[in-house]
Amino acid sequence: MPRLTPSCRTGRPGNRSTADWQAADNGHYLHPFSDYKELHAEGARIQVRAEGIYMWDTQGNRIIDGLAGLGCVNIGYGRQELARVAAEQMSQLSFCQSFFRTSNQPAIELAEQLTQLAPAGLTHVFYASSGSEANETCFKLARRYWQLAGRPQKKIVIARANAYHGSTIATSSLSGLPDLYDSGGDMPIAGIARIGAPYWYLEGADLSPEEFGMRAAGWLEARILDLGADNVAAFFAEPIQGAGGAIIPPATYWPEIQRICTKYEVLLSVDEVVCGFGRTGHWFGSHRFGIQQPDLMAVAKGITSAYIPLSAALVSNRVAAVLIDRGGEFYHGFTHSGHPVACAVALENIRILREERIVEHVAAIEPHFAARVAALADHPLVGDVRSCGLFAGIQLVADKRARQMFDSSIRAGDRCSREALARGLALRSIGDTMALMPPLVITEEEIDTVFDITREALDATARQLERGTHGPR
Ligand SMILES: Cc1ncc(COP(=O)(O)O)c(C=O)c1O
Repeated sequence: MPRLTPSCRTGRPGNRSTADWQAADNGHYLHPFSDYKELHAEGARIQVRAEGIYMWDTQGNRIIDGLAGLGCVNIGYGRQELARVAAEQMSQLSFCQSFFRTSNQPAIELAEQLTQLAPAGLTHVFYASSGSEANETCFKLARRYWQLAGRPQKKIVIARANAYHGSTIATSSLSGLPDLYDSGGDMPIAGIARIGAPYWYLEGADLSPEEFGMRAAGWLEARILDLGADNVAAFFAEPIQGAGGAIIPPATYWPEIQRICTKYEVLLSVDEVVCGFGRTGHWFGSHRFGIQQPDLMAVAKGITSAYIPLSAALVSNRVAAVLIDRGGEFYHGFTHSGHPVACAVALENIRILREERIVEHVAAIEPHFAARVAALADHPLVGDVRSCGLFAGIQLVADKRARQMFDSSIRAGDRCSREALARGLALRSIGDTMALMPPLVITEEEIDTVFDITREALDATARQLERGTHGPR
Protein backbone atom coordinates (compact mmCIF):
# COMPACT_ATOMS: atom_id res chain seq x y z
CA MET A 1 0.00 0.00 0.00
CA PRO A 2 1.77 3.25 -1.02
CA ARG A 3 2.16 5.91 1.62
CA LEU A 4 -0.20 8.83 0.92
CA THR A 5 0.29 12.48 1.78
CA PRO A 6 -2.35 15.16 1.70
CA SER A 7 -2.64 17.62 -1.11
CA CYS A 8 -1.63 21.19 -0.07
CA ARG A 9 -3.61 24.13 -1.33
CA THR A 10 -4.36 23.04 -4.83
CA GLY A 11 -7.95 22.30 -4.06
CA ARG A 12 -7.30 18.79 -5.31
CA PRO A 13 -9.21 16.39 -3.08
CA GLY A 14 -7.78 13.39 -1.28
CA ASN A 15 -4.31 12.10 -0.61
CA ARG A 16 -1.60 11.46 -3.19
CA SER A 17 1.13 8.85 -3.42
CA THR A 18 4.78 9.78 -3.85
CA ALA A 19 4.66 8.47 -7.42
CA ASP A 20 1.70 10.75 -8.10
CA TRP A 21 3.55 13.78 -6.69
CA GLN A 22 6.62 12.89 -8.74
CA ALA A 23 4.62 12.51 -11.92
CA ALA A 24 3.03 15.93 -11.37
CA ASP A 25 6.46 17.40 -10.57
CA ASN A 26 7.87 15.99 -13.80
CA GLY A 27 4.80 17.13 -15.66
CA HIS A 28 4.99 20.80 -14.76
CA TYR A 29 7.94 21.91 -12.65
CA LEU A 30 11.28 22.86 -14.23
CA HIS A 31 13.75 22.76 -11.33
CA PRO A 32 16.76 25.07 -11.06
CA PHE A 33 20.24 23.68 -11.81
CA SER A 34 18.86 20.31 -12.91
CA ASP A 35 19.43 17.81 -15.67
CA TYR A 36 15.80 17.35 -16.67
CA LYS A 37 16.33 14.05 -18.40
CA GLU A 38 18.00 12.56 -15.34
CA LEU A 39 15.49 14.09 -12.94
CA HIS A 40 12.54 12.81 -14.91
CA ALA A 41 14.00 9.31 -15.00
CA GLU A 42 14.51 9.21 -11.22
CA GLY A 43 11.81 11.48 -9.83
CA ALA A 44 12.39 14.11 -7.17
CA ARG A 45 12.35 13.50 -3.43
CA ILE A 46 9.26 15.36 -2.22
CA GLN A 47 9.92 17.11 1.04
CA VAL A 48 6.99 17.82 3.32
CA ARG A 49 8.21 19.09 6.67
CA ALA A 50 11.32 20.22 8.49
CA GLU A 51 12.28 21.11 12.02
CA GLY A 52 15.63 22.10 13.51
CA ILE A 53 18.22 20.31 11.37
CA TYR A 54 15.85 17.54 10.20
CA MET A 55 13.68 17.19 7.08
CA TRP A 56 11.01 14.63 6.25
CA ASP A 57 9.82 13.46 2.83
CA THR A 58 6.62 11.89 1.55
CA GLN A 59 8.01 8.43 2.22
CA GLY A 60 8.54 9.20 5.89
CA ASN A 61 12.34 9.35 5.66
CA ARG A 62 14.02 11.63 8.19
CA ILE A 63 17.08 13.32 6.73
CA ILE A 64 19.67 15.49 8.45
CA ASP A 65 20.12 18.65 6.44
CA GLY A 66 23.88 18.86 6.07
CA LEU A 67 23.41 21.73 3.62
CA ALA A 68 21.14 24.02 5.64
CA GLY A 69 18.90 24.10 2.57
CA LEU A 70 21.45 25.75 0.30
CA GLY A 71 23.60 27.22 3.04
CA CYS A 72 20.71 29.43 4.06
CA VAL A 73 18.63 27.94 6.91
CA ASN A 74 20.95 29.35 9.54
CA ILE A 75 18.66 29.19 12.59
CA GLY A 76 17.16 25.85 11.57
CA TYR A 77 13.67 24.99 10.38
CA GLY A 78 10.30 25.44 12.00
CA ARG A 79 10.72 28.53 14.18
CA GLN A 80 7.21 29.72 14.92
CA GLU A 81 8.33 33.23 15.83
CA LEU A 82 9.18 33.95 12.20
CA ALA A 83 5.84 32.61 11.01
CA ARG A 84 4.06 34.82 13.57
CA VAL A 85 5.98 37.93 12.59
CA ALA A 86 5.27 37.31 8.90
CA ALA A 87 1.55 36.85 9.58
CA GLU A 88 1.41 40.00 11.72
CA GLN A 89 3.24 42.07 9.13
CA MET A 90 1.04 40.74 6.33
CA SER A 91 -2.02 41.78 8.32
CA GLN A 92 -0.67 45.25 9.04
CA LEU A 93 1.15 46.22 5.84
CA SER A 94 1.49 43.41 3.34
CA PHE A 95 3.39 45.42 0.73
CA CYS A 96 4.89 48.85 0.30
CA GLN A 97 6.57 50.15 -2.84
CA SER A 98 9.79 52.05 -2.25
CA PHE A 99 10.15 53.70 -5.67
CA PHE A 100 8.16 56.87 -5.22
CA ARG A 101 9.33 58.63 -2.05
CA THR A 102 7.77 55.97 0.17
CA SER A 103 9.38 53.79 2.81
CA ASN A 104 8.33 51.36 5.53
CA GLN A 105 9.33 50.78 9.12
CA PRO A 106 10.70 47.20 8.89
CA ALA A 107 12.91 48.18 5.93
CA ILE A 108 14.23 51.24 7.78
CA GLU A 109 14.90 49.35 11.02
CA LEU A 110 16.56 46.49 9.18
CA ALA A 111 18.85 48.90 7.30
CA GLU A 112 19.88 50.38 10.66
CA GLN A 113 20.64 46.96 12.10
CA LEU A 114 22.49 45.65 9.06
CA THR A 115 24.77 48.65 8.96
CA GLN A 116 25.51 48.20 12.68
CA LEU A 117 26.35 44.52 12.28
CA ALA A 118 28.43 44.86 9.10
CA PRO A 119 32.07 45.98 8.93
CA ALA A 120 32.55 49.68 9.69
CA GLY A 121 31.93 52.06 6.83
CA LEU A 122 29.02 50.17 5.26
CA THR A 123 26.35 52.72 5.98
CA HIS A 124 23.61 52.17 3.41
CA VAL A 125 21.43 49.32 2.16
CA PHE A 126 19.82 48.57 -1.21
CA TYR A 127 17.29 45.73 -0.99
CA ALA A 128 16.54 42.93 -3.45
CA SER A 129 15.26 39.36 -3.11
CA SER A 130 18.07 37.00 -4.17
CA GLY A 131 21.82 36.76 -3.90
CA SER A 132 22.06 37.13 -7.67
CA GLU A 133 20.13 40.40 -7.57
CA ALA A 134 22.25 41.70 -4.69
CA ASN A 135 25.46 41.01 -6.63
CA GLU A 136 23.95 42.43 -9.81
CA THR A 137 23.15 45.56 -7.82
CA CYS A 138 26.75 45.75 -6.56
CA PHE A 139 27.99 45.37 -10.13
CA LYS A 140 25.85 48.26 -11.37
CA LEU A 141 26.64 50.37 -8.31
CA ALA A 142 30.38 49.96 -8.88
CA ARG A 143 30.13 51.27 -12.43
CA ARG A 144 27.60 53.95 -11.49
CA TYR A 145 29.91 55.16 -8.74
CA TRP A 146 32.85 55.69 -11.09
CA GLN A 147 30.60 57.36 -13.68
CA LEU A 148 29.36 59.85 -11.09
CA ALA A 149 32.85 60.29 -9.68
CA GLY A 150 33.94 61.51 -13.13
CA ARG A 151 36.01 58.44 -14.04
CA PRO A 152 33.69 56.52 -16.41
CA GLN A 153 36.58 54.60 -17.96
CA LYS A 154 36.92 52.67 -14.67
CA LYS A 155 34.60 49.89 -15.80
CA ILE A 156 36.29 46.51 -15.76
CA VAL A 157 35.31 44.16 -12.98
CA ILE A 158 37.76 41.49 -11.86
CA ALA A 159 36.46 38.20 -10.47
CA ARG A 160 37.97 34.80 -9.78
CA ALA A 161 38.00 31.29 -11.16
CA ASN A 162 35.62 29.02 -9.22
CA ALA A 163 33.59 32.04 -8.08
CA TYR A 164 29.82 31.80 -7.84
CA HIS A 165 27.94 35.08 -7.69
CA GLY A 166 24.56 34.09 -9.12
CA SER A 167 22.74 33.01 -12.23
CA THR A 168 21.56 36.19 -13.93
CA ILE A 169 23.49 37.08 -17.07
CA ALA A 170 25.81 39.54 -15.30
CA THR A 171 26.36 37.44 -12.19
CA SER A 172 26.86 34.23 -14.21
CA SER A 173 29.46 36.19 -16.14
CA LEU A 174 31.13 37.27 -12.91
CA SER A 175 31.16 33.66 -11.78
CA GLY A 176 34.15 31.55 -12.72
CA LEU A 177 32.25 28.35 -13.48
CA PRO A 178 32.24 27.89 -17.26
CA ASP A 179 29.22 25.53 -17.19
CA LEU A 180 27.14 28.58 -16.27
CA TYR A 181 28.00 30.22 -19.58
CA ASP A 182 26.30 27.36 -21.42
CA SER A 183 22.96 28.22 -19.86
CA GLY A 184 22.18 30.81 -22.50
CA GLY A 185 23.20 34.22 -23.82
CA ASP A 186 26.65 35.37 -24.85
CA MET A 187 28.45 34.87 -21.58
CA PRO A 188 30.64 36.01 -20.05
CA ILE A 189 29.59 39.53 -20.96
CA ALA A 190 32.27 42.06 -21.88
CA GLY A 191 34.17 43.99 -19.25
CA ILE A 192 34.99 41.14 -16.88
CA ALA A 193 38.54 39.98 -16.20
CA ARG A 194 39.52 36.92 -14.23
CA ILE A 195 42.23 35.78 -11.86
CA GLY A 196 42.85 32.40 -10.21
CA ALA A 197 41.28 31.21 -6.98
CA PRO A 198 43.29 30.88 -3.74
CA TYR A 199 42.99 27.09 -4.00
CA TRP A 200 46.07 26.00 -2.10
CA TYR A 201 45.50 22.25 -2.45
CA LEU A 202 45.47 22.36 -6.25
CA GLU A 203 47.49 25.46 -7.05
CA GLY A 204 49.96 26.00 -4.25
CA ALA A 205 51.43 22.70 -3.19
CA ASP A 206 54.99 23.99 -3.59
CA LEU A 207 54.40 26.75 -1.01
CA SER A 208 53.17 27.00 2.57
CA PRO A 209 49.52 28.11 2.73
CA GLU A 210 50.66 31.54 3.98
CA GLU A 211 53.13 32.01 1.14
CA PHE A 212 50.53 30.82 -1.33
CA GLY A 213 47.97 33.30 0.08
CA MET A 214 50.36 36.15 -0.78
CA ARG A 215 51.06 34.71 -4.21
CA ALA A 216 47.34 34.34 -5.00
CA ALA A 217 46.61 37.89 -3.83
CA GLY A 218 49.48 39.05 -6.03
CA TRP A 219 47.53 37.78 -9.06
CA LEU A 220 45.07 40.60 -8.43
CA GLU A 221 47.79 43.24 -8.36
CA ALA A 222 49.33 41.87 -11.55
CA ARG A 223 45.93 41.88 -13.30
CA ILE A 224 45.17 45.45 -12.22
CA LEU A 225 48.57 46.61 -13.50
CA ASP A 226 48.05 44.72 -16.72
CA LEU A 227 44.62 46.27 -17.33
CA GLY A 228 45.60 49.69 -15.97
CA ALA A 229 44.17 50.75 -12.60
CA ASP A 230 42.35 53.58 -14.37
CA ASN A 231 40.23 50.99 -16.15
CA VAL A 232 39.31 48.78 -13.20
CA ALA A 233 36.10 49.46 -11.27
CA ALA A 234 35.95 46.67 -8.75
CA PHE A 235 37.04 43.28 -7.52
CA PHE A 236 34.29 40.79 -6.64
CA ALA A 237 34.93 37.84 -4.34
CA GLU A 238 33.40 35.53 -1.74
CA PRO A 239 35.28 35.28 1.58
CA ILE A 240 35.06 31.48 1.18
CA GLN A 241 34.25 30.22 -2.31
CA GLY A 242 31.16 28.11 -1.82
CA ALA A 243 29.65 26.65 -4.98
CA GLY A 244 33.09 26.68 -6.61
CA GLY A 245 34.34 24.03 -4.19
CA ALA A 246 34.43 25.20 -0.56
CA ILE A 247 37.74 26.96 -1.12
CA ILE A 248 39.02 28.55 2.08
CA PRO A 249 41.81 31.07 1.50
CA PRO A 250 44.98 31.14 3.62
CA ALA A 251 44.98 33.77 6.39
CA THR A 252 47.40 35.99 4.46
CA TYR A 253 45.15 36.32 1.43
CA TRP A 254 42.42 38.77 2.36
CA PRO A 255 44.48 41.45 4.16
CA GLU A 256 46.70 41.60 1.07
CA ILE A 257 43.68 41.82 -1.24
CA GLN A 258 42.35 44.68 0.87
CA ARG A 259 45.71 46.48 0.64
CA ILE A 260 45.80 46.09 -3.14
CA CYS A 261 42.23 47.33 -3.66
CA THR A 262 42.90 50.38 -1.50
CA LYS A 263 46.21 51.14 -3.22
CA TYR A 264 44.76 51.05 -6.75
CA GLU A 265 41.35 52.58 -5.92
CA VAL A 266 39.54 49.42 -6.96
CA LEU A 267 36.22 48.95 -5.16
CA LEU A 268 36.11 45.78 -3.10
CA SER A 269 32.77 44.01 -3.46
CA VAL A 270 32.47 41.13 -1.03
CA ASP A 271 29.91 38.41 -1.66
CA GLU A 272 28.70 37.36 1.79
CA VAL A 273 25.66 35.49 0.47
CA VAL A 274 26.80 32.23 2.12
CA CYS A 275 29.27 33.47 4.75
CA GLY A 276 26.98 36.15 6.20
CA PHE A 277 24.99 35.74 9.40
CA GLY A 278 27.20 33.40 11.33
CA ARG A 279 28.48 30.65 9.02
CA THR A 280 32.14 31.31 9.92
CA GLY A 281 31.58 31.92 13.65
CA HIS A 282 31.48 35.67 13.03
CA TRP A 283 28.58 37.76 11.79
CA PHE A 284 30.29 38.08 8.41
CA GLY A 285 33.14 36.31 6.67
CA SER A 286 34.71 39.75 6.34
CA HIS A 287 35.16 39.85 10.12
CA ARG A 288 36.67 36.38 10.12
CA PHE A 289 39.19 37.07 7.34
CA GLY A 290 40.19 40.63 8.23
CA ILE A 291 38.43 42.39 5.35
CA GLN A 292 38.42 45.81 6.97
CA GLN A 293 36.87 48.10 4.43
CA PRO A 294 34.66 46.56 1.81
CA ASP A 295 32.98 49.12 -0.44
CA LEU A 296 30.07 46.88 -1.39
CA MET A 297 28.74 43.73 0.20
CA ALA A 298 26.06 41.32 -1.03
CA VAL A 299 24.01 39.51 1.61
CA ALA A 300 21.07 37.11 1.20
CA LYS A 301 20.19 33.57 2.38
CA GLY A 302 20.91 33.74 6.15
CA ILE A 303 19.49 37.26 6.40
CA THR A 304 16.07 35.62 6.92
CA SER A 305 17.38 32.07 7.42
CA ALA A 306 15.52 31.55 4.12
CA TYR A 307 12.10 31.74 5.75
CA ILE A 308 11.30 34.27 3.02
CA PRO A 309 13.38 35.63 0.12
CA LEU A 310 15.38 38.75 0.86
CA SER A 311 18.78 40.08 -0.09
CA ALA A 312 20.65 43.35 0.11
CA ALA A 313 23.63 45.22 -1.23
CA LEU A 314 25.36 47.00 1.62
CA VAL A 315 27.03 50.16 0.41
CA SER A 316 29.91 52.11 1.91
CA ASN A 317 29.59 55.72 2.87
CA ARG A 318 32.22 56.56 0.23
CA VAL A 319 30.01 55.14 -2.55
CA ALA A 320 26.68 56.26 -1.08
CA ALA A 321 27.93 59.82 -0.55
CA VAL A 322 28.69 60.17 -4.25
CA LEU A 323 25.29 58.77 -5.25
CA ILE A 324 23.55 61.13 -2.86
CA ASP A 325 25.63 64.25 -3.52
CA ARG A 326 25.64 63.95 -7.31
CA GLY A 327 22.00 62.88 -7.54
CA GLY A 328 20.38 61.74 -10.79
CA GLU A 329 18.12 58.73 -10.76
CA PHE A 330 19.72 55.34 -10.13
CA TYR A 331 17.57 53.53 -12.67
CA HIS A 332 17.64 50.15 -10.94
CA GLY A 333 15.51 48.25 -8.44
CA PHE A 334 12.87 45.61 -7.93
CA THR A 335 9.17 45.57 -7.10
CA HIS A 336 10.04 43.68 -3.93
CA SER A 337 12.95 45.92 -2.85
CA GLY A 338 12.45 46.55 0.87
CA HIS A 339 9.43 44.26 1.12
CA PRO A 340 7.99 44.90 4.60
CA VAL A 341 7.18 41.25 5.32
CA ALA A 342 10.64 40.02 4.30
CA CYS A 343 12.30 42.81 6.30
CA ALA A 344 10.18 42.06 9.39
CA VAL A 345 11.15 38.38 9.16
CA ALA A 346 14.83 39.37 8.81
CA LEU A 347 14.57 41.52 11.95
CA GLU A 348 13.12 38.57 13.89
CA ASN A 349 15.80 36.24 12.50
CA ILE A 350 18.52 38.65 13.62
CA ARG A 351 16.88 38.94 17.05
CA ILE A 352 17.03 35.13 17.39
CA LEU A 353 20.64 34.97 16.17
CA ARG A 354 21.55 37.64 18.74
CA GLU A 355 19.51 36.54 21.74
CA GLU A 356 20.30 32.86 21.37
CA ARG A 357 23.94 33.69 20.73
CA ILE A 358 23.95 31.45 17.66
CA VAL A 359 27.01 33.07 16.08
CA GLU A 360 28.89 32.51 19.34
CA HIS A 361 27.63 28.91 19.33
CA VAL A 362 29.24 28.39 15.91
CA ALA A 363 32.56 29.72 17.24
CA ALA A 364 32.30 27.48 20.31
CA ILE A 365 31.47 24.33 18.38
CA GLU A 366 33.93 24.96 15.54
CA PRO A 367 36.88 23.07 17.10
CA HIS A 368 34.76 19.91 17.40
CA PHE A 369 33.47 20.26 13.83
CA ALA A 370 36.99 20.95 12.54
CA ALA A 371 38.40 17.91 14.36
CA ARG A 372 35.75 15.64 12.83
CA VAL A 373 36.48 17.09 9.36
CA ALA A 374 40.24 16.64 9.85
CA ALA A 375 39.75 13.02 10.94
CA LEU A 376 38.45 12.17 7.46
CA ALA A 377 41.86 12.93 5.95
CA ASP A 378 42.96 9.34 6.52
CA HIS A 379 40.24 7.97 4.24
CA PRO A 380 41.65 6.47 1.04
CA LEU A 381 39.28 8.55 -1.13
CA VAL A 382 40.01 11.86 0.60
CA GLY A 383 42.77 14.08 -0.75
CA ASP A 384 42.11 17.25 1.20
CA VAL A 385 39.92 18.41 4.06
CA ARG A 386 39.25 22.04 4.94
CA SER A 387 36.86 23.83 7.22
CA CYS A 388 36.03 27.21 8.66
CA GLY A 389 33.22 27.76 11.17
CA LEU A 390 30.47 25.35 10.13
CA PHE A 391 31.57 25.14 6.51
CA ALA A 392 33.63 22.18 5.29
CA GLY A 393 35.00 20.81 2.05
CA ILE A 394 36.09 17.17 1.72
CA GLN A 395 37.88 16.63 -1.54
CA LEU A 396 37.73 13.20 -3.15
CA VAL A 397 40.67 12.14 -5.30
CA ALA A 398 41.63 9.18 -7.44
CA ASP A 399 45.23 9.29 -6.20
CA LYS A 400 46.12 10.95 -2.90
CA ARG A 401 49.86 11.15 -3.48
CA ALA A 402 49.65 12.61 -6.96
CA ARG A 403 46.68 14.83 -6.03
CA GLN A 404 44.98 13.42 -9.05
CA MET A 405 41.28 13.98 -9.52
CA PHE A 406 38.78 11.39 -10.69
CA ASP A 407 37.64 11.53 -14.27
CA SER A 408 34.44 13.57 -14.13
CA SER A 409 32.49 10.76 -15.85
CA ILE A 410 32.95 8.63 -12.70
CA ARG A 411 30.94 11.16 -10.69
CA ALA A 412 32.58 10.13 -7.45
CA GLY A 413 31.12 13.09 -5.52
CA ASP A 414 27.62 12.42 -6.78
CA ARG A 415 27.92 8.77 -5.74
CA CYS A 416 29.04 9.80 -2.28
CA SER A 417 26.17 12.23 -1.80
CA ARG A 418 23.70 9.52 -2.86
CA GLU A 419 25.25 7.08 -0.39
CA ALA A 420 24.91 9.73 2.33
CA LEU A 421 21.29 10.43 1.45
CA ALA A 422 20.48 6.73 1.59
CA ARG A 423 21.80 6.84 5.18
CA GLY A 424 19.80 9.93 6.17
CA LEU A 425 22.21 12.80 5.46
CA ALA A 426 21.93 15.47 2.77
CA LEU A 427 25.51 16.15 1.70
CA ARG A 428 26.28 18.28 -1.34
CA SER A 429 28.76 17.29 -4.00
CA ILE A 430 30.45 20.12 -5.86
CA GLY A 431 32.18 18.08 -8.52
CA ASP A 432 34.17 15.75 -6.31
CA THR A 433 34.26 18.05 -3.30
CA MET A 434 31.76 17.10 -0.62
CA ALA A 435 30.46 20.25 1.05
CA LEU A 436 28.98 20.37 4.52
CA MET A 437 27.26 23.45 5.92
CA PRO A 438 24.62 22.38 8.43
CA PRO A 439 22.19 24.74 10.15
CA LEU A 440 24.10 26.78 12.71
CA VAL A 441 22.05 25.41 15.61
CA ILE A 442 23.49 21.91 15.20
CA THR A 443 24.73 20.32 18.44
CA GLU A 444 27.98 18.46 19.11
CA GLU A 445 26.12 15.15 19.22
CA GLU A 446 24.43 15.85 15.90
CA ILE A 447 27.79 16.76 14.39
CA ASP A 448 29.04 13.32 15.45
CA THR A 449 26.13 11.66 13.67
CA VAL A 450 26.79 13.73 10.53
CA PHE A 451 30.42 12.63 10.41
CA ASP A 452 29.67 9.00 11.23
CA ILE A 453 27.32 8.92 8.25
CA THR A 454 29.80 10.80 6.06
CA ARG A 455 32.46 8.17 6.76
CA GLU A 456 30.03 5.36 5.99
CA ALA A 457 29.11 7.10 2.74
CA LEU A 458 32.79 7.44 1.83
CA ASP A 459 33.36 3.75 2.57
CA ALA A 460 30.38 2.77 0.43
CA THR A 461 31.61 5.01 -2.39
CA ALA A 462 35.07 3.45 -2.20
CA ARG A 463 33.48 -0.01 -2.40
CA GLN A 464 31.49 1.04 -5.47
CA LEU A 465 34.60 2.38 -7.17
CA GLU A 466 36.72 -0.64 -6.26
CA ARG A 467 34.12 -2.93 -7.71
CA GLY A 468 34.05 -0.69 -10.75
CA THR A 469 30.28 -0.65 -10.42
CA HIS A 470 28.69 2.27 -11.90
CA GLY A 471 25.64 0.93 -10.04
CA PRO A 472 22.67 3.02 -9.11
CA ARG A 473 23.82 6.57 -8.83
C1 LIG B 1 28.25 33.15 -2.82
C2 LIG B 1 26.95 33.20 -3.54
N1 LIG B 1 26.60 34.33 -4.17
C3 LIG B 1 25.44 34.44 -4.82
C4 LIG B 1 24.55 33.39 -4.85
C5 LIG B 1 23.28 33.53 -5.60
O1 LIG B 1 22.21 33.63 -4.72
P1 LIG B 1 20.72 33.33 -5.23
O2 LIG B 1 20.65 31.88 -5.55
O3 LIG B 1 19.87 33.71 -4.05
O4 LIG B 1 20.48 34.20 -6.40
C6 LIG B 1 24.86 32.21 -4.20
C7 LIG B 1 23.93 31.07 -4.22
O5 LIG B 1 24.22 29.98 -3.79
C8 LIG B 1 26.10 32.10 -3.54
O6 LIG B 1 26.47 30.97 -2.94
